[in-house]
Amino acid sequence: MSLKITVRSVLPARETGDLMVVGVPTLGGASKKNNQRLPLDGFDRALGVSFARLLKKEEFKGKKDQQVSTATFGRVKADRLVLIGLGDVAKLGPGDIRTFAAKAARLANGDKSRRLVLGVPAGLEGRLREIVEGLELGAYRFTKYMTGDRKPKSDLAQVTICLLGDTPANAKSRVDLGQAVARGVNLSRDLSNEPPNVLYPETFAAAAQAMAKESGLKIQVFDFKEIQKRNMSLLQAVGQGSEHKPVMVHFSHVPAGAASTRRRLVFVGKGITFDSGGISIKPASGMGEMKHDMSGAANIVGLMQIVARLKPNVEVHGIFAAAENMPDGNAYRPGDIWPSLDGKSVEIVNTDAEGRLILADALAYAKTLEPDLLVDNATLTGACVVALGTSCSGWYASNEATAEEFQGSVKNSGEVMWRLPILEDLKDQLKSDCADIKHTGDRYGGSITAALFLREFIGSVQNWVHCDIAGPAMGDRTRGWDPKGGTGHGVLTFLDIIERAAASTVAAAPSATAEVRGTATPPPVGTREVARQVKTARVAAKAAPAKAAPSAKAAPSAKATPSAKAAPAAKATPAAKATPAKTPAKPSAKAPAKPPAKAAPAKGAPFAPQGRKTAASRKTRR
Ligand code: BES
Ligand code: MN
Ligand code: ZN
Repeated sequence: MSLKITVRSVLPARETGDLMVVGVPTLGGASKKNNQRLPLDGFDRALGVSFARLLKKEEFKGKKDQQVSTATFGRVKADRLVLIGLGDVAKLGPGDIRTFAAKAARLANGDKSRRLVLGVPAGLEGRLREIVEGLELGAYRFTKYMTGDRKPKSDLAQVTICLLGDTPANAKSRVDLGQAVARGVNLSRDLSNEPPNVLYPETFAAAAQAMAKESGLKIQVFDFKEIQKRNMSLLQAVGQGSEHKPVMVHFSHVPAGAASTRRRLVFVGKGITFDSGGISIKPASGMGEMKHDMSGAANIVGLMQIVARLKPNVEVHGIFAAAENMPDGNAYRPGDIWPSLDGKSVEIVNTDAEGRLILADALAYAKTLEPDLLVDNATLTGACVVALGTSCSGWYASNEATAEEFQGSVKNSGEVMWRLPILEDLKDQLKSDCADIKHTGDRYGGSITAALFLREFIGSVQNWVHCDIAGPAMGDRTRGWDPKGGTGHGVLTFLDIIERAAASTVAAAPSATAEVRGTATPPPVGTREVARQVKTARVAAKAAPAKAAPSAKAAPSAKATPSAKAAPAAKATPAAKATPAKTPAKPSAKAPAKPPAKAAPAKGAPFAPQGRKTAASRKTRR
């Protein structure tokens, strides 16, 4: 349930609620301008000298993250007042603002307050979206399985945002937008938090279908039969050791009208509804956390719900593969060789490295859409958590221009993500003695070798980002605007990419309208755009000799050094023979039905539509 949010330009001390939370910039910082309202105006008079004494004793100066709490004993129209220091308001990024509002919502829930009054200092009235996002994200709790005393007695329901500055004309639409965004992130969290006996591939697909129906999104669901028919054998391999068979889900948002300048963005997620490790079974301790191993896929559902609501003028596809990694008598094994959707044969080393296998098929499917940008996200490796800790995800980009764009969105969103390098040196680790490629390397550089493996399946897609969200997708404690448990980490960054792509489409086609994040880096236009185009062309030209061999037959052997010696025909046989009895016999190492016809390196902005000829030719592919 969404909060009922009202925005008013009024002193918080004058409002009525159960709890008042007031954001306070560094006290005594800027000198008071004429008639400017300050957050504490009214409280000093109402609460008297004891209030001043409290602030002094606590040394409260409005420094960032300072906090003071006091009962009000009826002297203002709320039972409790909490001051939160904000430091220098001009320095607050989107994440700081979201965190401030989330803290307030959390305090309200902790205090059994249903009505919150939130005091927002002057200078932040343009940041209503982030404030509202923070409120909704901070108010989030996953309590559906609690009964009796464990069930919270009261939920925050109503918030009055008291702006010290003037209420902007677009306040209502910013509030609506913030609520829509948070609703998507909270949907991702809900899915991630569902226990694996309730959420397994089929029920996950049903949840996706329910969201699509409610939102008016197009959706395709491939069941196990369809997965086999389409030769998504890696997804089959991972999923077949469970009673619950795998699924593949594809949402699409394709705006009506001419598509010549519109980008096509494709997002992909890992949906392991429970990762026992399979035959390479995990240790018992902490295994239950692996219910969150579908968080990348949950992000796709949450993100697409927001897309359905925002209707950006950009084509967006959300794809996820879901399976349960279990060790029954039909489970895939270490030593198996399986064909992938795009034809490469894969030697299975460790059945606990299942994520990259289902993603390989999902990426091989996604690339047939000829994306201008392809982003995957997955709780992929423990190695990434070792490298970056639990609050930061690691991401990889296929070229510098794409990296720059992605980094811009990371900054806008305030999510903590760090770029990691795709080290070509480590590719040797994936050499197999009996198949085209092995799916894991040795212990060192585990997140990088996972990225290298995934890259084998993007074909001629130029602009690709892989995001390993293993750490922050499952919160070990409350942090920023995130709760413990499923966090939806990633959705905000991916949404920013979409919004910026849509905004630059608007720049190209001024008839359309869109509302961009108030604080966002402006979309690339004008001289910046020219500079970028030159740079992109240079980067692409550099990459061209290695990457522009997209003919499906030539590319795999040229790119996948491990199999460089094996002829395509020889490559196909081992996998076909090794296919377990239960697998219907089918040509294994088959090339995709239609090899992507894109050869040209990226022209223009990194996400600009590339090399797609006609709408008609595209239609036949989908
Ligand atoms: N789902 C795990 C990765 C993971 C670990 C996510 C910890 C969140 C927290 C993944 O499927 C996995 O088991 N990866 C293995 C790969 C290894 C066998 C090459 C890992 O990281 O240990
Ligand atoms: Mn695993
Ligand atoms: Zn996993």
